[in-house]
Amino acid sequence: MRSYQAKPVREVTGELTVPGDKSISHRSLMLSGIATGRSEVSGFLPSEDCLASLAAMRALGVHVERLSATHVLVDGVGLRGLSPARRALDMGNAGTAMRLFTGLLAAQAFDSELVGDASLMKRPMERVAKPLREMGADVRTTNGTPPVHIVGGRRLWGIDYSMPVASAQVKSAILLAGLYADSPTTVISPAISRDHSERMLASFGVRLEVQDLRVTVHPPEQLRAQNLEVPGDFSSAAFFIVAGLIGAGPGGLLIRNVGLNPSRTGLLEILRSMGGRIEVLDARESGSEPVAELLVHASPLRGITVPPALVPLAIDEFPVLFVAACCASGETLITGAEELRVKESDRIAAMSAGLQVLGIEHTVLPDGMRICGRDSAEVFGGGEIDSCGDHRVAMAFSVASLRAARPISIRDVANVATSFPGFVELARGVGFDLHER
Ligand code: S3P
Repeated sequence: MRSYQAKPVREVTGELTVPGDKSISHRSLMLSGIATGRSEVSGFLPSEDCLASLAAMRALGVHVERLSATHVLVDGVGLRGLSPARRALDMGNAGTAMRLFTGLLAAQAFDSELVGDASLMKRPMERVAKPLREMGADVRTTNGTPPVHIVGGRRLWGIDYSMPVASAQVKSAILLAGLYADSPTTVISPAISRDHSERMLASFGVRLEVQDLRVTVHPPEQLRAQNLEVPGDFSSAAFFIVAGLIGAGPGGLLIRNVGLNPSRTGLLEILRSMGGRIEVLDARESGSEPVAELLVHASPLRGITVPPALVPLAIDEFPVLFVAACCASGETLITGAEELRVKESDRIAAMSAGLQVLGIEHTVLPDGMRICGRDSAEVFGGGEIDSCGDHRVAMAFSVASLRAARPISIRDVANVATSFPGFVELARGVGFDLHER
């Protein structure tokens, strides 16, 4: 089993560029695969999760050519041109791929079967299956989890669906199925969630109406092939944003080409209200997404009560936010984050177990955590932590090494490759003492 050795260093400095956005990379393959014509995707994230989507598109009959690791050509087969896969589609660790493909495949003329790794096989799938059934699809889960079996050849109709949780994966699955329905489909969210699907569908020429928390998709004749540039993943940048706040040298830490879609940047707001100094430089549009450089300055942090409304806008960033909260003076209270319990691991439990090893006083809540932080050079002790096979838990505890008294060893880190290939090298490049064994 792979593990990290992270030794304490006091300073990170210089600059780095994080790899492409995972959410956008998945969607770029799915939409260009069902478009008419050839799409070119640059900045694609060559992580295991996105490569699972790529393999699935190929298995469904789409020709995908990789000009380089991050540059991909997709020959779209048209809205109704997918063909049945010969065997079950393996989504690996990728919840996004599993949920979005369920929506896309629910509308096809053929049957499909979706499976994944041990973590994905435990994750809830009824949240997508239920609304898809309301649209007329035949989607079967196994006690609510994968394998997901889809019986094709069903006629779908548009629905108005109020989602019980603010989930971009559920919203996107319904919108994808809605492309094939015989009337418009509306999804109403209880709070803002990431809107990459809406932006990308519009750029492929699909008619969408977005009004506050409602989005309506009108079934198109076709999707027009596009050239897409995938920005750097804010969720990968997040580890270095926190690293910069708790450990940047005098010049700060510069992170280039970071996607700053406002439905993703809740962490910036949270960290700024904790006292974090993060400058946004050269803000610009890249395709349909905002991007900028972030210059992060070492900042004394103070604990806050995180507004629950920001939770869906920072949903993937909580593991590293917990680390920031440990380095903030006073108490940080996080509630309304029960979704963390059904991510790649139970992230509340996994982070709590690690914080316990590192000597951090905290209280686990059903939907969050209360953390007693301390703004001092040595916040964490040291010792051996289990990432529970969760990429974001593994990277978050690597960041903790910047304020640790002793080395931290992190077990079961192979899954970092699901979202952030090259993490160790990039981290070392800005000063981390981090090694994988
Ligand atoms: C994602 C949505 C989020 C997020 C996941 C990626 C997406 O999940 O946690 O990593 O690409 O749509 P939920 O929408 O289920 O919260």
